[in-house]
Amino acid sequence: MSDILGEMRRTHHCCQLGVDDVGKEVVLMGWVQRRRDHGGVIFVDLRDREGLTQIVFDPEADKKCHEKAHEIRSEYVIGLRGKVEKRLEGMANPKLKTGEIEVFATELKILNTAVTPPFLIEDEAEVSENIRLKYRHIDLRRPYLQQSLILRHKAGAIVRQYLNSLGFLDIETPFLTRSTPEGARDYLVPSRVNPGQFYALPQSPQLFKQLFMISGFDRYYQIVRCFRDEDLRADRQPEFTQIDIEMSFVGEEDIMNMAEGMMKALFKGVLDKDIQLPFPRLSYDEAIARYGLDKPDVRFGLELKEISDIVKDSGFKVFADVVKKGGIVKALNAKGCSDLSRKDIDDLTAFVAIYKAKGLAWIKAKADAWQSPIAKFFSEAEKQALIGRIGMEAGDLVFFVADMPKITNEALGHLRNHIGKKLGLIAENEFNFVWVTRFPMFEYDETEKRYQALHHPFTSPLEEDYGKLKSDILDVKSRAYDLVLNGYEIGGGSIRIHQKALQEQIFEALGMTREEYEEKFGFLLSALDSGAPPHGGIAFGFDRLVMLLCGQSSIRDVIAFPKTQKASCLLTNAPSEPAKAQLDELSLKVRKAG
Ligand code: AMO
Ligand code: AMP
Repeated sequence: MSDILGEMRRTHHCCQLGVDDVGKEVVLMGWVQRRRDHGGVIFVDLRDREGLTQIVFDPEADKKCHEKAHEIRSEYVIGLRGKVEKRLEGMANPKLKTGEIEVFATELKILNTAVTPPFLIEDEAEVSENIRLKYRHIDLRRPYLQQSLILRHKAGAIVRQYLNSLGFLDIETPFLTRSTPEGARDYLVPSRVNPGQFYALPQSPQLFKQLFMISGFDRYYQIVRCFRDEDLRADRQPEFTQIDIEMSFVGEEDIMNMAEGMMKALFKGVLDKDIQLPFPRLSYDEAIARYGLDKPDVRFGLELKEISDIVKDSGFKVFADVVKKGGIVKALNAKGCSDLSRKDIDDLTAFVAIYKAKGLAWIKAKADAWQSPIAKFFSEAEKQALIGRIGMEAGDLVFFVADMPKITNEALGHLRNHIGKKLGLIAENEFNFVWVTRFPMFEYDETEKRYQALHHPFTSPLEEDYGKLKSDILDVKSRAYDLVLNGYEIGGGSIRIHQKALQEQIFEALGMTREEYEEKFGFLLSALDSGAPPHGGIAFGFDRLVMLLCGQSSIRDVIAFPKTQKASCLLTNAPSEPAKAQLDELSLKVRKAG
């Protein structure tokens, strides 16, 4: 046999052996985590994806083998045959699953050498993320990343099993396609055979899954990659994975029940946690009123209170003027925080400025009096009304933002999450789901000066609001729902429009001409006109779900090869400049930046 392995084949993985195996001859293969030379005896921690086993190279057990073990270095790949022995009294390592045994090697094969790794293969190793991503193949050897990806695999398998058991069909959809509007920019792919023309990578399979319903497939799912060119954050990647689902002949309740069952199966299967069904529901309006955000973290209180009516005629001009201009004033009571310093408050003012708040007014309720730059502007009656509305008690620190509703709510909503974390009000291992329903159908985009669909334009408006489509468009509510877990939007969907005339009306409300929507969505309109059943669906952000199941705070920790904030892959150096010949073939010319 010239092959390096010869007859040697693994009998166990590195997390499998225990006291029951003592006396067995085994073969293990893996990477050298650490080698310790104790004069006479050499110890090696051998690692594979499942864990570690301690190997002993003892000249008494096998002289040749011990000799060879001197060559071993970190991250070498080795295979060995040996005998399982119980560790000596007092030498057991309770932190290690295999800590009660060790394997005395009698045969060693060095299967490959390795250069010194750029960082230690340990969870605790402090390494910059850029180095980690550049050497991702090595980074991925770290136990927590191995566990994340193993958990991800398990979660996917449970989802498939659940959906298969309910009669859903897994059907693929194209990547080279037309734009599917989900609110981000498209990634474009030039077509060589159609010079000057481009495909768009799908932001989601939305239109294809609707077409499946029209074709009669009834129940569809796919665990599928989606592509969105948008600003990246800890919970956003340019390519990410959805559990995409669509069903025919259903209403909101059917989809929510199916989704809740899936979450129950997932949390039981992955974490052995029983989650309570059904999940509570909040209307969009209520979520914004109480939490400021449409993805509220409901693991803690600190609810916002609107006080516009109390301060609209007050002597504090900032508040009074905002209310006169159609804005609102809201308060957040940071219970028991009256000891925060000026510096702390300045930091929080800078924090709300990220969300465009122009200031952060505050009142400290001390036992004897209020400390506040704005208290002097309020009458006794206004003060009493504020105390009542906000539930202010001695020791509290109340924050105020006055602005147009969107800014006030976002700033205080994020401040609420920030303070909740700072005050330790959030039970970290709790999972709180909440459905947010009855979203507005449209929003006004101030930069683009036009209306946009808040979800996507294929979402059905509430029937009772059809009448407002021509007049009070911002008052039209939709049949959309989002599933929120611990303040993260983990899924969203809706009952769709299944009638051509209504779909055309929505395109028109969005300011499109007939020519425009015929050109972009003619295929959908024609499909809706050819026997479309009532249908609806949902898509879950699989990466976000797995991140929460793993207890991580970045989806980069559950994606094998993630991109940086600048959407680049440091391992392969993508994106990169194409060769001139490639550009010529595609009939493209690159304009120099700047
Ligand atoms: P939506 O745009 O809400 O809906 O996306 C569904 C879910 O996908 C996740 N998600 C992301 N995860 C990581 N990185 C991103 N850039 C990113 N963008 C979205 C979120 C989100 O809840 N076609 C509709 C679904 C439907 O109507 O059925 C859609 O794509 O967790
Ligand atoms: P000023 O009178 O501008 O010095 O502001 C007095 C206090 O009100 C300061 O604490 C400011 O941070 C705060 N403030 C100013 N503008 C706003 C606003 N739009 N909303 C909330 N607080 C504000």
